[in-house]
Amino acid sequence: MQPQYDDFADVYEQSLEDSELARQNLPFYVSLYLKARGPVVELGVGTGRIAIEAAKRGQSVIGIDNSPRMLETCRKRAHEAGVSGRIQLVQADFRELKLDRPAQLIAMPFHTICDIGEASDRRAILARIAQNLSPQGLFVFDHFVFDADLAMRYDNVPHIEAEYTDPDTGREVIFWTCGMYDLEEQQIRVVAWTDELDRDGVVVRRRYRRYTSCWVETEQMRAELAEAGLKVVALHGDFKGGPVDDDAVVNVWITSRSEPFDSGPAGASPSRSTPSHGSAARPLPPPPPAGGGKGAYALTYRPF
Ligand SMILES: C[S@@+](CC[C@H](N)C(=O)[O-])C[C@H]1O[C@@H](n2cnc3c(N)ncnc32)[C@H](O)[C@@H]1O
Repeated sequence: MQPQYDDFADVYEQSLEDSELARQNLPFYVSLYLKARGPVVELGVGTGRIAIEAAKRGQSVIGIDNSPRMLETCRKRAHEAGVSGRIQLVQADFRELKLDRPAQLIAMPFHTICDIGEASDRRAILARIAQNLSPQGLFVFDHFVFDADLAMRYDNVPHIEAEYTDPDTGREVIFWTCGMYDLEEQQIRVVAWTDELDRDGVVVRRRYRRYTSCWVETEQMRAELAEAGLKVVALHGDFKGGPVDDDAVVNVWITSRSEPFDSGPAGASPSRSTPSHGSAARPLPPPPPAGGGKGAYALTYRPF
């Protein structure tokens, strides 16, 4: 089956132009990537929205994605930005994640975890991630907080997601989405379409696209992480280190391996005596000094 993001590669970046979350998560992940030693692994690198910004600032990124078209766009954008040498792209499914050597930082930004609809698949992928992390490494990801009231208000209601000018045709484009929520299955089926307009505002082309996504509750995620061998180092309710309270629209998880594994990926075998997170070398340079605080996207590693 064709990866579902293939149909969105040509509109992905433009559709995010008005996205507040995209604006907030970009500096968070870029600054996180820059603090990591060794190549950062981004699961679901997409069009390279984050990876390319980190590469421009000197970080090497291994970007993994199963969508050939998203990767093609990423490759082109990386080339245009002059950072192809710092971005290694791998077309693969997360389920087959196997790195040449354990990573110090694996990130899965922008609720990509919600693209994995089956809990069993999520657990398998999380376990793979744990196996591919270095003993002091971090796995960082985020997902949106499901708001049932909001969902019911938007259920089956088409709305304009973005308006932009197509860079190739010069035409005005209206990007519509309509989500259908299945509360029992925790699934969202989205039908999206683009209307391309001529100078008189007449639709000259409409193209439909579809995808399915899901949501995960905080405690459900916590349980899945634990089962997969990942422990929560910190959980934030926004990208500035804020708390998970009623106003939180995202969960930002900072996790590490619970235990050293008997055997690591690709023959790497961290021994049982390998120190766990926090007991030896820090995985990342310390957060910015006091005063950096929220505005500087400081990560506060507070144990739970
Ligand atoms: C929401 S986009 C995020 C893209 C990018 N990280 C960003 O922040 O803009 C999710 C990406 O994950 C990829 N993806 C989803 N499920 C995947 C899977 N099972 N294996 C590999 N890639 C997957 C999609 O193709 C898509 O490019």
